[in-house]
Amino acid sequence: MKTTLRTSLALACAIAFPACAAAAPAWPAIRSTIPHDAAHDAALDARVRAIVAGMTLAQKIGQMTQAEIKSVTPDDVRKYYLGSVLNGGGSWPNNNKRASAADWVALADQYYHASMATDMTVKVPVVWGIDAIHGHSNVYGATLYPHNIGLGAARDPQLAHAIGAATARAVRATGIAWVFGPTIAVVRDDRWGRTYESFSENPLLVASYAGPYVAGLQGKLAGDGFVLATAKHFMGDGGTDQGRDRGVTKASQAQMMQIHAQGYYTALGAGAQTVMASFNSWNDVGAGVDYGKVHGSRAVLTDILKTRLGFDGFVVSDWNGIGEVPGCKDDSCAQAINAGIDMAMVPEQWKSFIANTIAQVESGDIPMARIDDAVSRIVRVKLRAGLFDKRPSQNAWAGRQDALEDRALARRAVRESLVLLKNQGPTLPLKAGTRILVVGKSAASLSNQTGGWSLTWQGTENTNADFAHADTILAGIEQAAGAGKVTYSLDAADVDVRNYDVVIAIVGERPYAEGEGDIGLMGTLRHSSRYPEDLAVLQAVAGRGKPVITVLVAGRPLYVNDLLNLSDVFVAAWLPGTEGRGVADLLLAGGQGHGFTGKLSFSWPASACQASLNVGDAGYAPLFAYGYGLSTSTRSKLAQLTTSFPAAGCGASNSSSINHPVSLVQP
Ligand code: GLC
Repeated sequence: MKTTLRTSLALACAIAFPACAAAAPAWPAIRSTIPHDAAHDAALDARVRAIVAGMTLAQKIGQMTQAEIKSVTPDDVRKYYLGSVLNGGGSWPNNNKRASAADWVALADQYYHASMATDMTVKVPVVWGIDAIHGHSNVYGATLYPHNIGLGAARDPQLAHAIGAATARAVRATGIAWVFGPTIAVVRDDRWGRTYESFSENPLLVASYAGPYVAGLQGKLAGDGFVLATAKHFMGDGGTDQGRDRGVTKASQAQMMQIHAQGYYTALGAGAQTVMASFNSWNDVGAGVDYGKVHGSRAVLTDILKTRLGFDGFVVSDWNGIGEVPGCKDDSCAQAINAGIDMAMVPEQWKSFIANTIAQVESGDIPMARIDDAVSRIVRVKLRAGLFDKRPSQNAWAGRQDALEDRALARRAVRESLVLLKNQGPTLPLKAGTRILVVGKSAASLSNQTGGWSLTWQGTENTNADFAHADTILAGIEQAAGAGKVTYSLDAADVDVRNYDVVIAIVGERPYAEGEGDIGLMGTLRHSSRYPEDLAVLQAVAGRGKPVITVLVAGRPLYVNDLLNLSDVFVAAWLPGTEGRGVADLLLAGGQGHGFTGKLSFSWPASACQASLNVGDAGYAPLFAYGYGLSTSTRSKLAQLTTSFPAAGCGASNSSSINHPVSLVQP
């Protein structure tokens, strides 16, 4: 018997017969907080049924199709009955990187009017989706918040709620009603290029953020200041072998349920109306069940997500995700639709996708009942979101350039996200009048401090001028220290350290996103192997009689014992976003009297190959444990650390972890 069939049968059995449930793990039924009452639901369902009943097959498949704005005109939306458009990272109205909120709204209105000009019996408005994953991060002039790894270190779900709400207002200011976020991955191997999109390695910490963030974005789906949220990527995106992007997650059902699904319990409970399918595959090696690519797995997208968890919103595929299902193509995958994909993100080949999918329904490869279910889910979500009621420009926030910003909130988030790992240098905060030498490549780089998904997909091809209303970390230090008190040198080659009281070295990773940021199979976490310039600049300033404060700007924990040995103070700053002043707030006396409160949301490695190091694991031996973080006044006593590392790289992951019992740790 095919393992996938056995899986479905086991789950079907657990659903149909209580006795079976004892054999299968119990997926909890989640009740959304979106207003539910019998009369309201009945009226909504009746309206959905009436709309869908009046649709042709072409109109239904069009509704299930999402195209990228660079490859679809408003008139295409009309002609092909498209249900959604998106813009990928680095895609803007008229390809104008500095498009204003009004420019975005104008295009959104054009798509909306086109969708309302079809020959459908009941016109269904198009919905625009965007990745606003740390503020409205694709839009010129927007405030960019710390990426999720920093928010997790803040241990402040209320902050996440506030950021979600601020992001919703910013997104509505541009005429858009749907955000592909939050990412609620539970990252277990830090070599993954999306580690920074995760709140934590701890599933319960992720769960503590997922619900509030969704609630911040969606509110109660009432008023003008909310957007549709997307819980992503379902399921197991953070658990792939060696952190390989789109790789294989080898996990038992219990591990999926207790680790990778935890964020969905609170996100769906908070009423998330959409879920994005994950690129990874799932292989329950211990049970001998290989679910394959999630995008093609009915067991995952329907049996677990929709039937067991009770999700009644819609599932959107990831970018050409259906094309990665074995035997499928970017524009053709009956298996993915039958598995439970309701809307297909087919950025370029959307036209042939529509034609192919119509043919697959007509041939019987896709049952019409599946199509009707998918379209009903999409229409239901659009009705709940009030999208039928008014065009984008009629939203109270539309065109509000000021709504793109909330710099005070972001600066607070930066302060709360910083984790003090070593404190053996000068008393912090530095007193007024201190003569400061700042060095390092990430002191004056808004690209480095905002990371991936910032104006562009990879966060590259940007200059500081592309970030209106932003402060580098250096600018923050200069503003707090006062005129004439700060000198900056990229590599310290042209300065004499003895002329200063203290050195602040701001170093770290350059921007990346998704697989581009993977460290790779057998790769080590040793930072200096990829960025030798950071070790070089610390070697140039350390040991010259002046204390060194190092600020690491990076998207994940790293093996940096060599940098720690050369530092008297060491701060993990993650990817703080546009508000560099938040870093100076904790380092300098002028910083409004705030102190370090951040706590590690990811364990910090003691050796170069501790990439899969997670609190609760057997044999857990980090350098700094999950939850570690010094206060400003707490001194540390860190001895000299080993700087050894395996030149040949790390061995394969310890596959025995696949079946070890999950021990959950409170946030
Ligand atoms: C990407 C990402 C996903 C994002 C989507 C649209 O491939 O996996 O998180 O929402 O494409 O940009």
